[in-house]
Amino acid sequence: MSTNIATPSVVATPRHEARTTDQPDLEFLPNLVARDHQFDYDVAIVGLGYVGLPTALSLHAAGASVLGIDVSELRLATIRNGEADLLRSDQERLAQAMQADDFTISGDSLQLSTAAAVIVCVPTPIDPYQTPDLSILRSACAMVVNAAVPGQLLILTSTTYSGCTRDLLVTPLEEGGLVVGRDINVAFSPERIDPGNDRFAHEDVPRVVGGATEGCLAAAEALLGRYARTMHGVSSLEAAEMTKLLENTFRAVNIALANEFAEACLALGIPVMDVIGAAATKPYGFMPFYPGAGVGGHCIPCDPHYLLWQLRKEHIQVPVIEQAMSEIARRPRRVVERILETLADRGKPLDGARVLVVGVSYKPDVADLRESPALEILSMLAAHGTEIGYYDPFFKSLRLKDGTEILGTSEPGLFHPDLVVLHTDHAGTDWSWLGPDDVVLDTTYRRSDLPQRVLL
Ligand SMILES: NC(=O)c1ccc[n+]([C@@H]2O[C@H](COP(=O)([O-])OP(=O)(O)OC[C@H]3O[C@@H](n4cnc5c(N)ncnc54)[C@H](O)[C@@H]3O)[C@@H](O)[C@H]2O)c1
Repeated sequence: MSTNIATPSVVATPRHEARTTDQPDLEFLPNLVARDHQFDYDVAIVGLGYVGLPTALSLHAAGASVLGIDVSELRLATIRNGEADLLRSDQERLAQAMQADDFTISGDSLQLSTAAAVIVCVPTPIDPYQTPDLSILRSACAMVVNAAVPGQLLILTSTTYSGCTRDLLVTPLEEGGLVVGRDINVAFSPERIDPGNDRFAHEDVPRVVGGATEGCLAAAEALLGRYARTMHGVSSLEAAEMTKLLENTFRAVNIALANEFAEACLALGIPVMDVIGAAATKPYGFMPFYPGAGVGGHCIPCDPHYLLWQLRKEHIQVPVIEQAMSEIARRPRRVVERILETLADRGKPLDGARVLVVGVSYKPDVADLRESPALEILSMLAAHGTEIGYYDPFFKSLRLKDGTEILGTSEPGLFHPDLVVLHTDHAGTDWSWLGPDDVVLDTTYRRSDLPQRVLL
């Protein structure tokens, strides 16, 4: 994308694991009138979830003094007790940070005005009708605007529709008398973190940034550049917001395509993973995506709906994206159909059959059930009278769509399933209980070593 703003790459200053100065570092506020304002913290993070907490830890490790704000007492207690679901490297950082006097976590949003920069990382889910639910983001932004003081830098990082930063930060700030770019800086920088994935350090993932003004962009790049090695400035807030929507819509469309190829290959008797693996040897013009039981988490099933919702207002149709999102959404139903077919081949009806789902989180090695296809699959099976069970060491229990709580089994061998459904293949999953005659529906397509394996 072309840019009409001069945006030199900002290389992060060398990281140091301990703060070297007691004074907040205000080097990222050069353009503001109120640049001499004294702050207690370099940065406040609003929302200490899968995105906010690692961001807070990266900034702290880079030498920033950090105030973490979360409305959930439960979340704050989980963090304080060292029980947050984090990569090992972040767990170590958290243990260090909790000992440091320049890292504070709190539920008191009034303290936001004591931070030179505020980064908003709160959830942006969709409702059951697949409409963006902006209530959390609206209230978090209102809280930040209410606490805003001249001299601050405000950065929104939650995934959202294009124009949201202007609607929820720039406009209310200006209505309250702060001139953006003169009194206060505002930017949007989409988060790209991949929880559970330690192949890419947070510091090594380039950050895309859009500013309300050129000065806002430079300020945001300077702050985020304290830990991220590469900055990529774009022409506006809206371009930065749209970049995130493109990234996740790209993934959604390609996953839908991979699912269709899996169905085509199954019908033609061709192993789809052979085909994808072979295509992936092409060094340009192809990127592998893999079929599965559906998509979960807070990104792919949700983010493209922010775009579709926005475009509906403009009466613009984007049939490729709409089709991809429908295909993805109906995938768990396809899994249940395949369970029915597989059981029927063995003379068993769905009603009364025993089905054990292995791995229920939405992706391997994270304790995250949000939007997991497993919840829908288990709920549909239960509604058909199937005896359901699941095996996933990350979750002692889970709630089905109708609110029913079910307990996981720690001894899958005692469940005596008619069919095992491999939904999520966590590293180190114990398969020693699997008998040679146990049939496994492998929705991951990756376990060719399983003896009695069927595919979606
Ligand atoms: N999880 C991911 O893989 C990922 C990756 C990239 C981008 N994102 C985006 O980042 C954003 C945050 O996602 P997440 O996964 O970290 O969410 P999360 O649910 O893990 O955490 C959000 C935290 O915000 C807190 N919160 C809610 N309202 C608040 C408020 N008003 N003030 C302070 N705290 C508040 C919640 O208590 C929670 O602890 C979303 O927009 C998401 O789409 C997520």
